[in-house]
Amino acid sequence: MRYAQIAGWGMHVPSRLVKNERFVELGLDTSDEWIATRTGIRQRYIAGNESTSDLALRAAQEALYVSGTHARDIDLILLATCTPDQVMPSTASLIQDRIGATGAGAMDLNAACAGFVYALAMGAGQIESGRARQVLVIGADELSTHLNWRDRSTCVLFGDGAGAVVLKESDEPGILSSTTGCDGAGADLLMIPAARPNSRANGHSPKGVGYLTMNGPQIFRWATQMMAKAAEKVITASGLKLEQVDLFIPHQANLRIMETTAKRLGLPLEKVFSNVRQYGNTSAASIPIALYEAVAAGRLKGGDNVVLSSFGAGLSWAAVALRWGANVPAQHTRWSPLRRELEARMAAVRSTLRRQERAVRATIGERLRRDGD
Ligand code: COA
Repeated sequence: MRYAQIAGWGMHVPSRLVKNERFVELGLDTSDEWIATRTGIRQRYIAGNESTSDLALRAAQEALYVSGTHARDIDLILLATCTPDQVMPSTASLIQDRIGATGAGAMDLNAACAGFVYALAMGAGQIESGRARQVLVIGADELSTHLNWRDRSTCVLFGDGAGAVVLKESDEPGILSSTTGCDGAGADLLMIPAARPNSRANGHSPKGVGYLTMNGPQIFRWATQMMAKAAEKVITASGLKLEQVDLFIPHQANLRIMETTAKRLGLPLEKVFSNVRQYGNTSAASIPIALYEAVAAGRLKGGDNVVLSSFGAGLSWAAVALRWGANVPAQHTRWSPLRRELEARMAAVRSTLRRQERAVRATIGERLRRDGD
């Protein structure tokens, strides 16, 4: 039996820290107390000049480093994001170039905040079916670029960030089961209308173009039901009993949603990991960042059963049950940091050479065509 196991993890957030009090200073009719009691959020990090790919790159490099994997050995890069650097090419293709993953396919996946768990399920499937041996799965978002900073019901909720894992082929159980789902009838409850004149969604409200809009209370109710259902599904599919779940990592959107979900499931709060207080809702990055911090806090040991459950715009949801590997992290030598640095530089040099080669070929081709005329 071939399994996919998480062998490395990384995260990155921008350096600009925005505390709740800052919104009040900027004249928004809100308070630290309101935000903290209704959501559990105290602060978030907001990107300045960094793009989604910049955040994703740093998280990916760390995950590769932790797993002891060479970028050239990665078979596939799946980047979950709803805030790509541009419409095309995919943000994953920029990561492929910047890390020097010369043997990898690369694509973006958009399932909004549920994107990372979707991508994890897809990546595991590729490994289990024998189509890939090592998959880099990234969740990265910069929702701050789509926030209306005068709308207190949305702008206080989100933060920017990226998280990544390396999935590796293993004989030992890793990803145990997964589920993905969608209810497109709720698409209008949470959206960022595109700036396309013929779009049905924003045809009647050009003012909303590009800004995130949300029906908070409806999303809240739906999320508490859906995250619990999805978690129950993967627990049952894995043959686990609820008592055997060691850690539950829900999408970090709102502490009250997480607590209600845990209550529905019958899980004690000690088994629920939350860091929404420090980061806000980082969309597709929320679960890999939480996973990273759970490892850093010593909340995971080899053989632990972990359940990830997420929800987001779509409406979409996904959950994964996994067994934390006993054999990670990979061995590092004192040369490992040097190797990491060298790989990053080599990737940059390779990328520059490829560009120059293309430019030279294009010039020669043009000359030959002119000579032919
Ligand atoms: N500061 C102060 N007051 C605020 C506020 C803020 N930042 N945001 C909203 N309010 C006000 C509202 O205007 C409303 O005032 P009113 O009663 O005078 O009209 C009041 O607070 C209650 O609003 P309501 O939306 O009912 O609050 P709530 O308890 O449902 O909490 C959310 C609002 C957004 C925190 C909550 O609905 C939520 O978290 N929903 C899920 C959102 C989510 O997870 N989205 C991401 C999905 S990936």
